[in-house]
Amino acid sequence: MISPASIDQVFETARVEEVIGDFVQLKKAGSNFKGLSPFSDERSPSFMVSPVKQIWKDFSTGKGGTAVSFLMEHEHFTYPEAIRYLAKKYNIELEETQQSSEQKEKANERESLYLVSEFANDYFKKILHKTDQGKAIGLSYFKERGFTEETIKTFDLGYALNEWQAFTDEALKQGYNIDYLQKTGLTIVKEDKRFDRFKGRVMFPIKSMSGRVLGFGGRILISDKKAAKYVNSPESDIYHKSKVLYGIYHAKQSIAKEDNCYLVEGYTDVIQFHQTGIKNVVSSSGTALTSEQIRLINRLTKNITVLFDGDAAGMRASLRGIDLILEQGMNVKVCSFPEGEDPDSFAKQNTLEELNTYLTENAKDFIQFKASILFEDSKNDPIKKAETVRDIVNSISKIPDRIKKEIYIQECARIMDISEEVLFSTLAQINKKDVQEENKRYKTEQKAFDVIKHVQPVKKVDVQYILERKIIEVLLLYGNKTENFEDLVLKENDKGELVLEPVIHQAKVFEKVFLDLQDDEMEFSNEKFKNLYYTIIDRLNQDQEFELKTFVNSVDQDMANEITTILMEDERYALDNWNRMNIFPKEKTHSIAQLVSETILSLRCFLIDQKVKEFQQETLQNKIDSNRNILEEVKDYSGLKMLLSRKLNRVL
Ligand code: CTP
Ligand code: MN
Repeated sequence: MISPASIDQVFETARVEEVIGDFVQLKKAGSNFKGLSPFSDERSPSFMVSPVKQIWKDFSTGKGGTAVSFLMEHEHFTYPEAIRYLAKKYNIELEETQQSSEQKEKANERESLYLVSEFANDYFKKILHKTDQGKAIGLSYFKERGFTEETIKTFDLGYALNEWQAFTDEALKQGYNIDYLQKTGLTIVKEDKRFDRFKGRVMFPIKSMSGRVLGFGGRILISDKKAAKYVNSPESDIYHKSKVLYGIYHAKQSIAKEDNCYLVEGYTDVIQFHQTGIKNVVSSSGTALTSEQIRLINRLTKNITVLFDGDAAGMRASLRGIDLILEQGMNVKVCSFPEGEDPDSFAKQNTLEELNTYLTENAKDFIQFKASILFEDSKNDPIKKAETVRDIVNSISKIPDRIKKEIYIQECARIMDISEEVLFSTLAQINKKDVQEENKRYKTEQKAFDVIKHVQPVKKVDVQYILERKIIEVLLLYGNKTENFEDLVLKENDKGELVLEPVIHQAKVFEKVFLDLQDDEMEFSNEKFKNLYYTIIDRLNQDQEFELKTFVNSVDQDMANEITTILMEDERYALDNWNRMNIFPKEKTHSIAQLVSETILSLRCFLIDQKVKEFQQETLQNKIDSNRNILEEVKDYSGLKMLLSRKLNRVL
């Protein structure tokens, strides 16, 4: 674990504009930087970085956050990976929290396994490119398969000499420990003998999301009935077959950008697709997809398209495994290739355009696809049809989203020519097993519905929205500052008249905001703002040292997106203006105290106006002209409004 002090140091040192500058071409624009969004294909820049606030905002996708969250979004790093990356960039030595000696040993051992794998990868590449055997056998094999020089380099393909222990000898000579060679499976140790596991095979290194070599697949070059076509690294502390996807390192960027991931069966399918120009592709390496693998993809996109080799039996067998993908709430499409073709052979024979057209035309929604082929299979067999119905409904039951579920039931009823009622009752039966689970889900979804229900259909003038947003902005930027606030208080003067007198009192901005709003029993009308407001107040209350970028980093991505929108929206337009008219936007001359008071008072005035209007409406509708209560209230409110307006005028 990285120590909190080190993490703080990284945060203090890292400059968002420098970090992003390594990935996006940024141009100075006023006090900000502007560039083309790395998350979408755009022509005019809507990606902004603020060196002052130390945040970034991508207006094309709504994403935004800190330097760390940029790395997590763009490079798909985990949080610790992002911290380590920044530490390296800024030469910060990370301090690890106290580890037990056992933990330390384990960490060192994993590091050693990584190092030995890295070495092996370099070695196999060197053999492929620099030795006669490598060139004559390995390289010519890849060329024959149609892989270009560039592709071979990109995927770091290699070759292992056809000798019993050439690799092991070299590794030992270079000082690598036999223990680690054995644990990674590169060397097989039998009594006092040592063998190279991958002897005489072409090598496909398997990399992690961040590009480290975890293990290998080695393909035999001769067709030999007795030998396995592929030999793979065994499970080790760094290689867990169920947790990696071949190609993910090369695909991650494009998966996020295309918002879709193609899933194929083999190493060569991935490579051939990539070479043809479709880069958002990964392989589960011949086994059924696991939920951990799906989670890897889920970090990048919600959409997955499973590509089947063109043999019917294999495809039918794979259909079952897909329920796992549905369970994680992903949208699944499937696409099969013509009889006898696999993604590799098909990509090799077609241009990028042809391949894309084929995929668009043949990718079908999974549930519909499954329903239609199972229906074909069981059309004339009632018993089989009953089974099929259960099978399909079982798949549908895995979908977490209730609305989607319902739509699918309707759709499948149509495809399989069966009543919706039957399908719904089958679904209920299947669901009975985990009623509790379903109940829980139902409740939270119901809540979401309630929120939607209560949203007013006609949008009010956005004054309230703008003011509420301004309050959040003020809190984020100045919440922790201590300011002198002027308040008007009713006092009796010498002549015994009531007059308003200014009184100065010192307070922190967030306290002032909070107390004033509480006075009016005011609630935010916008749910997101309300949520944000309480989160910010809560944090300001706890933290003496409230810092914007630390805060942005500690909230979830949705909230970070919202915050960066609030903070950057104004500047975005200011910049457009500036670009067009070639004038620099005037700096705000208000003091912070003025800004705060002005915002709160404006909101209060607005709300009172609303109230008064409501009362008037009511009086009109009820036609109760003598209803004292309402009239009294209107009067009270009008009085308050006048008072507030006077205060506001003083501020302005
Ligand atoms: N596989 C494996 N062990 C085997 C056969 C296959 O691990 N004995 C895995 C490999 O990851 C392989 C994938 O299953 O990439 C798909 O198998 P297959 O379609 O037979 O291989 P291809 O990738 O098509 O390889 P090639 O085109 O070289 O025959
Ligand atoms: Mn294949």
